[in-house]
Amino acid sequence: MGCLRLGLVPNYHHNPSLLNSRSSLILHKYKTGFLPCSSFPSNKNLFRLITITNPIKLNKVRACSNSTEKTMVKAIRVHEFGGPEVLKWEDVEVGEPKEGEIRVKNKAIGLNFIDIYFRKGVYKSPTMPYTPGMEAVGEVVAVGPGLTGRKVGDLVAYAGSPMGSYAEEQILPADRAVPVPPSVDPITAASIMLKGLTAQYLVRSSFKVEAGHTVLVHAAAGGVGSLLCQWANALGATVIGTVSTEEKAAQAREDGCHHVIIYKEEDFVSRVKDITAGQGVEVVYDSVGKDTFQGSLECLKLRGYMVLFGQSSGSPDPVPLSAIAAKSLFLTRPTLMHYTITRDELLEAAGELFANVASGVLRVRVNHKFLLSQAAEAQTALENRQTTGSVVLIPDASL
Ligand SMILES: NC(=O)c1ccc[n+]([C@@H]2O[C@H](COP(=O)([O-])OP(=O)(O)OC[C@H]3O[C@@H](n4cnc5c(N)ncnc54)[C@H](OP(=O)(O)O)[C@@H]3O)[C@@H](O)[C@H]2O)c1
Repeated sequence: MGCLRLGLVPNYHHNPSLLNSRSSLILHKYKTGFLPCSSFPSNKNLFRLITITNPIKLNKVRACSNSTEKTMVKAIRVHEFGGPEVLKWEDVEVGEPKEGEIRVKNKAIGLNFIDIYFRKGVYKSPTMPYTPGMEAVGEVVAVGPGLTGRKVGDLVAYAGSPMGSYAEEQILPADRAVPVPPSVDPITAASIMLKGLTAQYLVRSSFKVEAGHTVLVHAAAGGVGSLLCQWANALGATVIGTVSTEEKAAQAREDGCHHVIIYKEEDFVSRVKDITAGQGVEVVYDSVGKDTFQGSLECLKLRGYMVLFGQSSGSPDPVPLSAIAAKSLFLTRPTLMHYTITRDELLEAAGELFANVASGVLRVRVNHKFLLSQAAEAQTALENRQTTGSVVLIPDASL
């Protein structure tokens, strides 16, 4: 249990991604460890949500661990590119954390479409063999020499680099791990770190969604799509979502899509033109790529933003500049890593995300859980469009 300290809180209400005062207070506590006077003692529930000590600061001061013992754990390993069958359940050595590192025992691991790109060799893994996975939540079990601000027993989350979360334990750079608020359980946290941080930079940075905008979100019932639609709706946008089935359409409506298009059955370009009375949308968030990219450009209004952030159906064909010039469009192909480079950026984004989850602005859908050893089945389901919301892997030994 952390300690409560009272202090004055700056006005976070200018921040449009913090959609109610509860989110603002939770973010403030996340970043500073302080609870503003104005929120105490009237809101006991809020106090429970945001009690965190020593949230962020990391220093290198003294050695904390000098063990040379080998730690063997179970992990998924890939020795060659290919289908889900190349995911092997093996024993691996974790080693001890070095300076600036921590060793984390994972409680829950997020499954992401990017894991499939790496498995297939669409993206190149830095090593071969390698352990996949770019998102997890776990307990710190060892701290490298010279690190303070992080201790054994802390619950932390990470998303992105380094790869290797499909493992019972892994080594992480301490500055890529963020504290998980007590209000957010490990499975929920693991299901939103990568996908939620992506939704955060998409609506807040790559294109700033505002009230009055109309946005088009492809794969609206997916892991990122679900959070993206909710966030865009809460910011006041009119949200149009595309999905492949009626079941996914129902979820997308619940997640704040004002209009849902089943793009396997309907021409989404003409539907978007109808919905917007021929004007088009301010921004398209396109993670499907090859099958949708050309149509997405057609859906944009003059000076609209094409945000291509994935390629679940394959890489789109090259775009001639004339296609951009036709409507003075903006085109970006962003990646999460470039929006969370500094620790401050990472903490700001994670703070907003956790605050909006804790305050109920974002509903997290952990719709599928698999044992870590069954990662191949989990990836098969994701690849075959059989999932909605988030998919989480649970280390076998923790059950
Ligand atoms: N750039 C970044 O920073 C960043 C970060 C995170 C994720 N991403 C990208 O965001 C996308 C979503 O990731 P996610 O993990 O949340 O996955 P997801 O959206 O849960 O799953 C992919 C969805 O894409 C749709 N899809 C359309 N055509 C497909 C095809 N040919 N094969 C497979 N799926 C197809 C399916 O939805 P329907 O059945 O409704 O069509 C499917 O459920 C991925 O492309 C991923 O690479 C990018």
